[in-house]
Amino acid sequence: MKGVVLAGGLGTRLYPLTRVTNKHLLPIYDKPMIYYPIETLVRAGIEQILIVTGGNNAGEFLRLLGNGRQFGLRHINYTYQEGEGGIADALKLAEYFADQDKIVVILGDNILEKDITDDVKSFAAQREGAKILLREVSDPGRFGVAEVQGDKVVNIVEKPLVPKTNLAVVGVYMYDHKVFDFVKKLVPSDRGELEITDVNNAYIKKGQMTYNILSGWWTDAGTFESLFRANKLIAEKKLKS
Ligand code: DAU
Repeated sequence: MKGVVLAGGLGTRLYPLTRVTNKHLLPIYDKPMIYYPIETLVRAGIEQILIVTGGNNAGEFLRLLGNGRQFGLRHINYTYQEGEGGIADALKLAEYFADQDKIVVILGDNILEKDITDDVKSFAAQREGAKILLREVSDPGRFGVAEVQGDKVVNIVEKPLVPKTNLAVVGVYMYDHKVFDFVKKLVPSDRGELEITDVNNAYIKKGQMTYNILSGWWTDAGTFESLFRANKLIAEKKLKS
């Protein structure tokens, strides 16, 4: 399986922190943010990784990450998203890299306490379709929110005003090759983006979306509050170990 880290977008919710640098290069305790999603993929046994980035500081990723030696990788692939067309727009750029293989996609601002090796293994054994990870949160309205029945996801709503459940969709998505057909059919949402939630709902409609409940803590780092929380959680984890 191959891995894709989505690190495009302008990070406007973090202005002025992101006015002269990319959000994913900001520090989370003792490392740049992008290190964490890359390490999550590497710990899950993924060796071929594509970084999708954008904006004015794309070159800095190459200077920081090089060929991935510090992660035990032999090579890292890079591509560039023009503009800020949404998560699914960034994912489009991974089609050539994926080359019909299954992929694990992780958002560049998602930080997970535990590894996802078992989730990736169970998706490797899944014949087709997709798998997402869900986690109970106290503020579901900030996320994609899933409704489940038994072992099936029946619907996801992006940032609902009145969430039906408190099950947030974690920014880790596992897809088979059909994802690129779904992405090509998307139309921009009201906020002008190609939404990953629409891709996930396309799999749900086909009855091909499975889910696991994520163990351990998880946070994004795209707002001041969550960036601060991410720093605190990683600091606590480091100081404990
Ligand atoms: O963190 C999990 C949540 O991430 C999910 O629950 C939501 O369903 C999903 O839509 C997403 O929500 P956000 O609004 O928090 O996503 P955000 O716009 O902050 O983008 C998250 C990452 O995706 C960002 O760090 C880099 C990547 N991205 C985003 C955009 C808009 C791109 O690569 N290109 C883009 O154009």
